[in-house]
Amino acid sequence: MSTSDLALTQARFARFDQSTAEEWRLIDRHFRAYQSDACRRVLAHLERLKGDTHGYPVDRYEHCLQTATRALRDGADEETVVCALLHDIGDDLAPANHAEIAAAILEPFVDPLNVWMIRHHELFQGYHYRHFFGQDRHAREAYRDHPAYARTVRFCDDWDQTSFDPDYDTLPLDAFLPMIENVMGREPFGGLPSVVEDSDSSPEPQANAQEASR
Ligand SMILES: [Fe+2]
Repeated sequence: MSTSDLALTQARFARFDQSTAEEWRLIDRHFRAYQSDACRRVLAHLERLKGDTHGYPVDRYEHCLQTATRALRDGADEETVVCALLHDIGDDLAPANHAEIAAAILEPFVDPLNVWMIRHHELFQGYHYRHFFGQDRHAREAYRDHPAYARTVRFCDDWDQTSFDPDYDTLPLDAFLPMIENVMGREPFGGLPSVVEDSDSSPEPQANAQEASR
């Protein structure tokens, strides 16, 4: 780390094509700290699912905890339990396609088959209610040959669609904290790129174009 790194507290550029490696080192330190704190922010967002039941027997917070509890008691591994805990976290931000939110949050940290499971759980869960809306409840059969088909059916049939019971002995969030901290504390798949030491001079017009969107 150079002495100029220590002095810089905020980037001075007004546009990326005027940025320096020194500024990116500063931003990268902030980004890593922010990334490492993502678990706390995700849990804070999960709390937002408390309250309004939207007509269901339980609110979405209880539903998420109950789904995770059932998965845990059924012997699911830690990663799957965390997927269960967060699977509906996108309900308030994207009610029409909420599964995408949870899948995106978990994607850097869990098995791609579990990401697929979470991303497709709405359709698979629909086996239990799509016919009430005149839709094909068997639509998930289009994915029968997919390697994540069986786990997604189990997730929905055994844990998700069953977790609207107000009388179920659901575990509190505290029971799952070590699990979510373990999973979201993993190094993101693919790692995080670092600023290279000799990148200050002569920026190439096409260099690092993909990373700049970060
Ligand atoms: Fe659910």
